[in-house]
Amino acid sequence: MARIPMMAGNWKMNNTISEAVVLTQEISNQYEKKEWEDAVEIVLCTPFTDLKPAKTVLDFDKVKIKVAAQNVYWEPSGAFTGEISVPMIKEIGCAYSIVGHSERRELFGETDEAVNKKVKALIAEDLGAIVCVGESLAVREEGTTLEFVCAQVRAAFAGLDADEVAACVVAYEPIWAIGTGRTATPEQADEVCAAIRRTVAEIADAETAEDMRVLYGGSMNPGNVEGLMAMENIDGGLVGGASLKAETFVQLIKACL
Ligand code: G3H
Repeated sequence: MARIPMMAGNWKMNNTISEAVVLTQEISNQYEKKEWEDAVEIVLCTPFTDLKPAKTVLDFDKVKIKVAAQNVYWEPSGAFTGEISVPMIKEIGCAYSIVGHSERRELFGETDEAVNKKVKALIAEDLGAIVCVGESLAVREEGTTLEFVCAQVRAAFAGLDADEVAACVVAYEPIWAIGTGRTATPEQADEVCAAIRRTVAEIADAETAEDMRVLYGGSMNPGNVEGLMAMENIDGGLVGGASLKAETFVQLIKACL
């Protein structure tokens, strides 16, 4: 089965509700039903406060663009002040949540164990997980990138069967390329994405690995997207900065066609 590319915009902590409505509307206005609908999966990963407003705009416009959370907690409800659960984002209509973004791992102490619990909680509610993995500059310079990233993949999917793994997307985001303007070369990115796919084949099966979308993230922009998308193992992008303007995000979507 040919993999349908995914272009996911990770807005991070940007856009108030009114700004989110404007940006979503701008993207929606450029939606090309005939060309895009079955050719690319488009996802807006907004702050929690923007999910419902963005979803409302997309539903009203009847465009096939999905919304996703950037993080989620694994318990369904309870005394967890400040957290948001999977049933909460499900009721809004989220299709996915990002899990284990490097900013959450680095700034908020998110561990591999927490990532695994979040992936399991999403799958239990029939939502998908966009699981982020990626090495620091120190790891890359040490020459242990593949071991490091594949260990993160194994930890994220620990205890899952092949069908459950198949509900996930992996985003390879080298930390040294995030928000820095420094992109991994297509060859560097493809080498790691291929290793991720091999790891999925080992922990699930060959078919799951072949069908899994592996995204690249890290300063993806209209100038480098074509080269990255031309690689065998790269099936789209998880995009930060370039997803905050409709014009650039739409260019990235078009590069997936
Ligand atoms: O989730 C997105 C990544 O962190 C990439 O962010 O495109 O701003 O480098 P960036």
